[in-house]
Amino acid sequence: MRIISLELKNFRNYASASVNLGEGLNVLYGKNASGKTNMLESIYVCSVFHSPRTSKDKELVRLGADNATVKLVLEKKYRRHTINIQIDSQGKKRVAVNGIPVNRAGEMLGLLGVVFFSPDEMKLVKEAPQERRKFMDVGISQQQKSYFTALQRYNKTLKQKNNLLKEHKSSNIDDMLDVWDVGLAKEGAVIIKKRTQYVATLLDAAARFHAAISRQKEKLTLEYECSIDCEGDESDIERRLLSALKEARQKDKELGFCTVGPHRDDIRIEIDGKDSRKFASQGQQRTVALAMKLGEVLIYKNEIGEPPVLLLDDVLSELDETRQRTLLEMTTGFQTLLTCTEFLLNVPATKFKIENGSVKK
Ligand SMILES: Nc1ncnc2c1ncn2[C@@H]1O[C@H](COP(=O)(O)OP(=O)(O)OP(=O)(O)O)[C@@H](O)[C@H]1O
Ligand SMILES: [Mg+2]
Repeated sequence: MRIISLELKNFRNYASASVNLGEGLNVLYGKNASGKTNMLESIYVCSVFHSPRTSKDKELVRLGADNATVKLVLEKKYRRHTINIQIDSQGKKRVAVNGIPVNRAGEMLGLLGVVFFSPDEMKLVKEAPQERRKFMDVGISQQQKSYFTALQRYNKTLKQKNNLLKEHKSSNIDDMLDVWDVGLAKEGAVIIKKRTQYVATLLDAAARFHAAISRQKEKLTLEYECSIDCEGDESDIERRLLSALKEARQKDKELGFCTVGPHRDDIRIEIDGKDSRKFASQGQQRTVALAMKLGEVLIYKNEIGEPPVLLLDDVLSELDETRQRTLLEMTTGFQTLLTCTEFLLNVPATKFKIENGSVKK
């Protein structure tokens, strides 16, 4: 798929801007704080319907303006789509696709597929488990709506359960907890099963990229690290999760929060058998993160049958020449938006100069 055009009004530091994007590599270059990341962010919002940088949507509205709008025209295999997003100064978001209002943005997840690389993603390996769960959640949600639905239900129930555990530590709350646990086990099993499959597929792709980037010197392994045994089918997992929740009940009551389930899980990352989360050097961390992101791209393309759009924010400067080349080589065949302060590589690209919230071709 590819983005044909993008129009921004009062989005971040853009009063009004419009770009027609090229097919392959698009380079957005300009000084720091000119608005390069802001533009990628507006595209990400059209895909995932929230920002990769903030949970407060009102920050996306240009200071002093009443509302921000983003209009994106997308070409997919069979047709063109127009995505319109309006965010008001309270942070309320309205989404319309092809002129028709969409009440639940989640339904449109995956219409525009993006894979976002930024220096933050490059820290995927060493950051807290939450970052790796987010990596799986965003990656799988874009491909499978049923995952996104299960995740939303799970999180809602978990919140209710945790409130109950926190507020009523001593009273008799077991009947209510029994109800929540059944829900958590059901949705949790969907999440665990899909994450296990995703990480197994990811390993295949990521290990190949990793070997190429590290010149076959190191061996990468990835494994979904689950608080319960995640073998078998969904109903096996559901049964095991339910009994694990029951077993943890007393402890959870004492602590005031739920201690088992996919909200505590992680991806185990090893290089040559050593836990990378603890032992990898900075260069190794970046190599692994890059391999995982490239893996995500490949899985998306295989699953959906169409390439996603790649958003590469400021990543070249973090990488050495071999990795820069590997990254750009693999973007062939994908529409890519790359930001940098200066673009010196001698490769064909459509270039846009970004200056103080405006675009110059
Ligand atoms: N809601 C907003 N209203 C107005 N300006 C904003 C808003 N949000 C962010 N900005 C401004 O946008 C600018 C940052 O833009 P952005 O992060 O896109 O820069 P960049 O070009 O990616 O820079 P760098 O090269 O440093 O990464 C900052 O000057 C910031 O103050
Ligand atoms: Mg930036």
